[in-house]
Amino acid sequence: EYLTGHLPTHLKGLDAALFGGIPFGALTELVGPAGIGKTQFCLKISVLATLPSCYGGLDGHVIYIDVESKFSSRRLIEIGLNSFPEIFHLEGMAKEMAGRITVLRPGSLTEFTESLQKIKVSLLQHQVKLLVVDSMAALVSGEYEQGPPRQHPLGWHISFIKSLAEFSRIPVVMTNQVRSRSATEISNYSFQGERRDDCGNFDSHLVAALGIHWAHAVTIRLVLESRSGKRFIKVAKSPMSPPLSFPFKITSSGILL
Ligand code: GTP
Repeated sequence: EYLTGHLPTHLKGLDAALFGGIPFGALTELVGPAGIGKTQFCLKISVLATLPSCYGGLDGHVIYIDVESKFSSRRLIEIGLNSFPEIFHLEGMAKEMAGRITVLRPGSLTEFTESLQKIKVSLLQHQVKLLVVDSMAALVSGEYEQGPPRQHPLGWHISFIKSLAEFSRIPVVMTNQVRSRSATEISNYSFQGERRDDCGNFDSHLVAALGIHWAHAVTIRLVLESRSGKRFIKVAKSPMSPPLSFPFKITSSGILL
């Protein structure tokens, strides 16, 4: 009952399937292979969160945790200019909108932990309407964390992020990369039988990296995948939506259905 608002993605079928868009107060995960468009999706929703409400935005600020240095202000502004020319072409507006997005680049798991603590304070002080973590799995990908592997290194972080989402009632979107075969496996699996075995629809490598706790913490899971040269976005886990899949394109305006 905490799903009391949404960030519309402006991807019409997806918004309809999610009863308005990315829900406030919950974790939404984007899963898919490298290069499928997870970062492009995050850039688009960041633009949307900063847009004035009369254009269907949240008129807010965004905190964007850019683990792999994939955030691009140039691309963000390009998406804004092409999707909402009437706003982004106004004098100084592109800069103002981009300035509403705070990009954090933690260089280690310790710095990520510190970032989360700072975010908690920012959420109280600023009009933050979206938190993005791109990507979660990269935080525990060998090169990132030094030292011996621990079984569930992000257990605390996941609980903390979920509590941030619930207490601030903002949408929290996180990405995770899977091998391309796994993305298809995940989406084929997701709606078989009752969804009580949440971990069954989860990539085994991700479970190893993020822990089973992760699979349960996520409220909405969107799987981005490629089939016969086309890209699809599938609602693979949702408390209210059937397993719908929508084709999408990546253009100069960002992600489009
Ligand atoms: P990983 O981070 O490697 O897991 O990938 P990702 O899923 O985040 O992919 P990303 O969002 O970076 O998408 C990459 C794809 O987006 C590319 O294959 C391009 O097709 C498209 N793309 C990226 N930048 C642009 C751009 O400036 N213009 C257009 N038209 N497409 C772009």
